[in-house]
Amino acid sequence: MNFAMLFLPPYRESKRRAGGLCALLAALTLPGAGLAAVDEEAALELAKKSNCLKCHSVDVKKEGPPYREVAKKYRGKPDAEKTLFTHVTTAPKVKIDGEEEDHQIVKSKKKEEILNLLRWILSR
Ligand code: HEC
Repeated sequence: MNFAMLFLPPYRESKRRAGGLCALLAALTLPGAGLAAVDEEAALELAKKSNCLKCHSVDVKKEGPPYREVAKKYRGKPDAEKTLFTHVTTAPKVKIDGEEEDHQIVKSKKKEEILNLLRWILSR
């Protein structure tokens, strides 16, 4: 056993450990970790299913504002989730190309699923 072996475990082992460490770090750095960890996969799935990504992306302005901008606008606002919950469940009028249209309603009736999507948006 030489010195380097102590620090260079077999490749697979080190990859597994690195993966575990990343997951741990991610969990620790998520806002409100432990209370409301965001399930990104579920959020994206619901966004796709509900057509949200037709008008929104994280970074690029489409018909709707980029989610990063939405997150910025609501940063530090305690009722952000409540406001956006209403926004995505009650179809308020929004302007699209100068025309008033009903905003898309999210295709889920499960409060937790909807909140997960909103938390994902708000953590962009
Ligand atoms: C047909 C285009 C379109 C679709 C589809 C759409 N949106 Fe939007 N969305 C908009 C527009 C336009 C605005 C800007 C409204 C405004 O600022 O008046 C907006 C605003 C928003 C906002 C910010 C609201 C605020 O108070 O600042 C959120 C969050 C949002 N959309 C989420 C979603 C979600 C989630 C979905 C899918 C369920 C979705 N949108 C689908 C066009 C769309």
